[in-house]
Amino acid sequence: MKNYIKHDEWNIIEEGFNPALNKVSESIFSIGNGRMGQRANFEERYGGESLQGSYVAGVYYPDKTRVGWWKNGYPEYFAKVLNAPSWIGIDVFVDGEPLDLHRLEILRFRRQLCMRDGYLSRSFTARFEDGREVAVEATRFCSLVDDECGALSYRISARNFEGRFVVIPYLDGGVRNMDSNYDETFWEYVAASTAPNRSVLTMRTKKTDFWVTTGMHYELLADEGRIQCSEQDVRRDDYIGKSVTFDLAAGQSIAVRKYAVVLSSENHPKADMEARASAMLDRVVAKGFDRMMVEQSEAWGQKWEESDIRIRGDIAAQQAIRFNIFQLHQTYSGEDERLNIGPKGFTGEKYGGATYWDTEAYCLPFYLATAPPAVAKNLLLYRYRHLPKAIENARKLGFDGGAALFPMVTMNGEECHNEWEITFEEIHRNGAIAFAIYNYVRYTGDDEYLADYGLEVLIGIARFWAQRVNWSEYRQRYVILGVTGPNEYENNVNNNWYTNTMAVWCLTYALEALTAVRHAWPAKYEAVITRTAFDERHETGTWETIVEKMYYPVDGERGIFLQQDGFLDKELVPAESLPAEQRPLNQHWSWDRILRSCYIKQADVLQGIYLLEDRFDLETIRRNVDFYEPLTVHESSLSPCVHAILAAKLGDEERAYQFYLRTARLDLDDYNNDTEDGLHITSMAGTWMSIVEGFAGMRVRDGRLHFSPMLPVKWQSYEFSIRFRGTVLTVKVSRSGVLLAHSGSDPLTVFVFGHPYRVPREASVELAGGQRI
Ligand code: BGC
Repeated sequence: MKNYIKHDEWNIIEEGFNPALNKVSESIFSIGNGRMGQRANFEERYGGESLQGSYVAGVYYPDKTRVGWWKNGYPEYFAKVLNAPSWIGIDVFVDGEPLDLHRLEILRFRRQLCMRDGYLSRSFTARFEDGREVAVEATRFCSLVDDECGALSYRISARNFEGRFVVIPYLDGGVRNMDSNYDETFWEYVAASTAPNRSVLTMRTKKTDFWVTTGMHYELLADEGRIQCSEQDVRRDDYIGKSVTFDLAAGQSIAVRKYAVVLSSENHPKADMEARASAMLDRVVAKGFDRMMVEQSEAWGQKWEESDIRIRGDIAAQQAIRFNIFQLHQTYSGEDERLNIGPKGFTGEKYGGATYWDTEAYCLPFYLATAPPAVAKNLLLYRYRHLPKAIENARKLGFDGGAALFPMVTMNGEECHNEWEITFEEIHRNGAIAFAIYNYVRYTGDDEYLADYGLEVLIGIARFWAQRVNWSEYRQRYVILGVTGPNEYENNVNNNWYTNTMAVWCLTYALEALTAVRHAWPAKYEAVITRTAFDERHETGTWETIVEKMYYPVDGERGIFLQQDGFLDKELVPAESLPAEQRPLNQHWSWDRILRSCYIKQADVLQGIYLLEDRFDLETIRRNVDFYEPLTVHESSLSPCVHAILAAKLGDEERAYQFYLRTARLDLDDYNNDTEDGLHITSMAGTWMSIVEGFAGMRVRDGRLHFSPMLPVKWQSYEFSIRFRGTVLTVKVSRSGVLLAHSGSDPLTVFVFGHPYRVPREASVELAGGQRI
């Protein structure tokens, strides 16, 4: 765990430069706008440790699978998000010497991410060996308004000398991925062009043939008067830029403004990309950097208005939740149903930028409550469009009759993960995808989604479960063998309670959805039945039998659900007795040792209890939490939020708060020692859930909102807004009670601690039954 980020309500601040932390900071200070993203690499060259990262949404490379021993069913490739041509670079030479913080003495350094207005800034003063001092102030952002554009301002000053400066704003297509199975490059040159102050470079990806055109236009702005300068084209292979030479007197400074556009052939015809890049550059240059900054601030203002959470009394907690919300918005805007949310967003290469079950299990609630319903719907449609591929994927593994197994990891619907224990066994992902449909319908009331899209997906998923179970003569029950549950520190287990439970839940929900659609939309129902060649009598009969006769591992004595068969054979030693230097286990223990141990990577049984909470009484929840929590090492970022929500449910404010901090500051404080690979974007939505579903206890039951708020001792109050069925409801929890206000014209009924309140437009709700927060 690290503790170097300054606490501040609206900013992420790093003071002083520690090269050992540079890659961590490059992740933390990343910027993006849903279409493109950029790690916080320096504009000028840097010879020290760095992970270069510019990413373009939807552009990937199918890197040929690399495994020790091929197994039938493995996918051909593992999709990689690509480190794309860089648009931020500005090389700087001072009297012929490169400006490189790795080689210079750094007198002052500050990096700051301004979340309110959506930009990154960095300033430093560096000294050359002979005492010449150069100061730099850089600001950049990925525009929310012009979402294929980025812009930066780079002001450079000669502090105590007069010297000759060469600055080279450039575009670099000669980039590599750190993560490349065969150490290959993934890009090929297509074309380049130049004009005064401007360069445009088009590169294509090998195999997938995505084209990306990156264009830049620079301007120089002197503080006062004009500065004489000369411009020359620079061109080396895939590197294109402009070399600009000028002299600065002592104390004088000059700003380089660099406008960049990044176009992908996913959104533009290839033949037009270069011309469109130039036209787009004309437009943003005419608008100007300052105007773009103002628009950026306004666009972020709108986002904050809809999704900010305000915490009073705890700056670390406030900063953290804003950081999580900020990064989620930077990753996914929900406008394009072809896009999704990679576990690292645009902040690193790990997890290949692909879609995991994280989206459905963790991210959906955030977008449901903070964005228009179309955004959450797009996340669902993404899977709907992939249904044919999910059916094909299941067929490859030996299932038939329209059974669908959605991929564990995907870019375009095809499975692209190739560890057998995950690809073939972590089938619980199908459950999360079905649950997301339920969650969406429950939250929005958009039942018709089932008729239009949802039912078809549910049928495919239910068919899969119906074939994946087998009848055990011995138990006289259905069982599910050879799976990996959410806890990836166990593989090939039998009867993972979570998986069995979700399988039955899916079958039950599919049955309910069939009935609901048949009644409400008979014509659409018939169309789905025909399209899916559904055998109503036979298939529903099979599903009902499985639902009735599924086996679940439990321990009656302890009154708990068992993670899987045989879990109690393990040596049960609480994780807190593990020496600190052995954590995280996955960086210190052999895989063999991990598999045999009792340690749980992430919520597993507890994940199921979280999703299906209404089925369990408080004592059952408590017994399971008390049993599993001490064994859980939370080495997946997805884990602490579930524990925070359950702790809050059980009224354990202290534990809920500790888990909240752990999820919220996971990256800011680098809890798992892996932030340098990129941020844990998908778990950030879990942080939001920890407050809204955890502390505020929000639930949706029968189309109504319920809250059972608690307030961490350290906090004076917290306040958030959620969209719910056409209104925006603001909830403020403080020691004196709960304040509810909403934007709708009709009164809204909201339950607080189980008591219904009719909330006119603005009202202070008295806590019922003398309860105090
Ligand atoms: C977790 C998975 C998750 C993946 C991507 C893994 O460490 O165990 O549940 O889907 O990370 O976030």
